[in-house]
Parts: sequence; structure tokens; C-alpha cells
Amino acid sequence: MRVLVLGGTTEASRLAALLAAARRDIWSMLSFAGRTKAPIAPAIPYRIGGFGGVEGLVSYLERERIELLVDATHPYAEQMSRNAELASAQAGIPLIVLTRPPWLREPGDDWTIVGDMEAAAAALGPEPKRVFLTIGRLQLAAFASAPQHAYLIRAVDPFDPPPELARCRVIAGRGPFGSAAEEELLRDEKIEMIVTKNSGGGAAFAKIVAARRLGLPVVMVERPQGVAGDALHDPAEAMAHILAHAEALASRGV
Ligand SMILES: NC(=O)c1ccc[n+]([C@@H]2O[C@H](COP(=O)([O-])OP(=O)(O)OC[C@H]3O[C@@H](n4cnc5c(N)ncnc54)[C@H](OP(=O)(O)O)[C@@H]3O)[C@@H](O)[C@H]2O)c1
Repeated sequence: MRVLVLGGTTEASRLAALLAAARRDIWSMLSFAGRTKAPIAPAIPYRIGGFGGVEGLVSYLERERIELLVDATHPYAEQMSRNAELASAQAGIPLIVLTRPPWLREPGDDWTIVGDMEAAAAALGPEPKRVFLTIGRLQLAAFASAPQHAYLIRAVDPFDPPPELARCRVIAGRGPFGSAAEEELLRDEKIEMIVTKNSGGGAAFAKIVAARRLGLPVVMVERPQGVAGDALHDPAEAMAHILAHAEALASRGV
């Protein structure tokens, strides 16, 4: 059986490791968008770059004779997930969605939940603050509307050109992060507010724990609507579905 995994997440990489260790009659490919300069190489073949919309993805699925598509992209990779859903329907192959459950607010958390980055910038308030931004690089422009704040931005790769924010500094970092180190960073940088997406999972959760310990407010940008409700959360569960599909194909003599 031939499987395409749309990746860019820890879960996709974990699934790739399971696929690498699985039966040799399951061939699989992991796809990265190419947002980070040097993705950590998986143990299965991988490719980098967009497919060219739904049409391009359907052509790829047909050309590569893919029999099962796994959408293990980030919960905020809205476009790719939509493309995957449409392309799997058009190509007539099953789709498995693997995503992390969102973080849930716990006692001690001071969260302001907002719908998008523009609302997140507004939620920082009029008074100048020191703000930690951990939202990736694509939506930083929203914070140009709040130039009174000093932003500390964490990203996997350095920025070139630098972000167009009047007062900002970029630090490099790739998860998983530890909560003691996150607490130290927040203290050292005198951070007063954090802006984050509700990515879920363990790799980026340490800043939420650190904010709770320090009593820092967090502006939490909600997940886009329409992310599949019946998604799987565990790479091992996704692997079990893949194996079951392989069995079903084999029993039909495909
Ligand atoms: N959004 C986030 O907050 C976030 C955070 C961490 C990691 N990521 C990862 O970074 C990647 C891009 O995220 P995004 O928010 O830019 O996605 P997006 O807005 O949903 O996707 C934009 C375009 O990027 C290409 N693309 C996205 N994921 C791809 C993949 N796995 N393989 C090949 N092409 C892909 C597709 O181009 P074509 O239409 O040309 O096929 C897609 O239409 C994803 O792999 C995602 O898992 C995203």
C-alpha cells in the first residue's frame, strides 16, 4: 500500500517513525511545506514544497498511486487541510486526520481567548508592554497595529529580512521546550504578556505552564473553525487505521 503523510508536526514525524518500522509492503512518503530551512529528516522518504492547490495534490496522488492520505498538518494549517479533504474525495481515496487535542484552561490560567491575530494585537491593550510572541512568522504583520509594545519573537529559523515591527527582537528556538527554562526566559526578559496559538501537544506546552506559575496573562488565538471533528489524536491510532486499511486492500486482492 502507498501512503502520503502531510506533515510539519511532531505527530507526523512520530507516524513516519512507526511507518518506517512497519511492514515492508507499506510504502510511505512524508510531505513538508518547506516553512523551516532544515526539517528534521524522517526515517521514510520525504518531499518538500506545495503541490499546487487541490488540482496539484490530486495529480500527485494519482501519479504516485497513493491509496491512503494522512493529514497530520498543524491545526492552524487550514488551507492544506481543506485541500487534503477535497483532493481525497476527488481521487477517491480515504483520508485520516491526525491532530493534537487543544490545550484546556486550568485553574491558575489567565487566558484571553481571541478569534484571530488582529484581535490578539488589540487584546494587548493600550499601555506599552513586553510581549512574548510564539505564533510562527506568517502572521506577525497583525502586530504592526500595536507598535507601543516591545515584542520578543521566537522562531525556528532566523528572519531575513527582519520582521517589520518597530520594537522587536528575535530569538531562535525549536521545541520541545522545558517549563523551568521557559520560566527563566520569561523572567529574564521581563515578559508581561504572551501571545500563542492553541497548538496543543507537549512540545510547546511549557510556556503555558510557566505563565501559570508566574501568573502571566496569555492571549490565546483560537483554532480555525472547520477542522475535522473526528480527527485521531495519537500516531499509534493512525498507524492502526493504516494497517487495517492495508489488510482490507490485501483481502480484496488489490
Ligand atoms: N500554521 C501553523 O501555525 C503551523 C505551525 C507549525 C507548523 N506548521 C506546519 O507548516 C506547514 C505550513 O503551514 P501553513 O499554516 O502555511 O499551511 P496552510 O496555510 O494550510 O498551507 C498553505 C500552502 O502551503 C502548502 N503546504 C502546507 N502544508 C504542506 C505540506 N505538509 N506539504 C506540502 N505542501 C504544504 C500548500 O501549498 P499548495 O496549495 O501549493 O499545495 C498549502 O496550500 C504545515 O506543514 C504545517 O503542519 C504550521
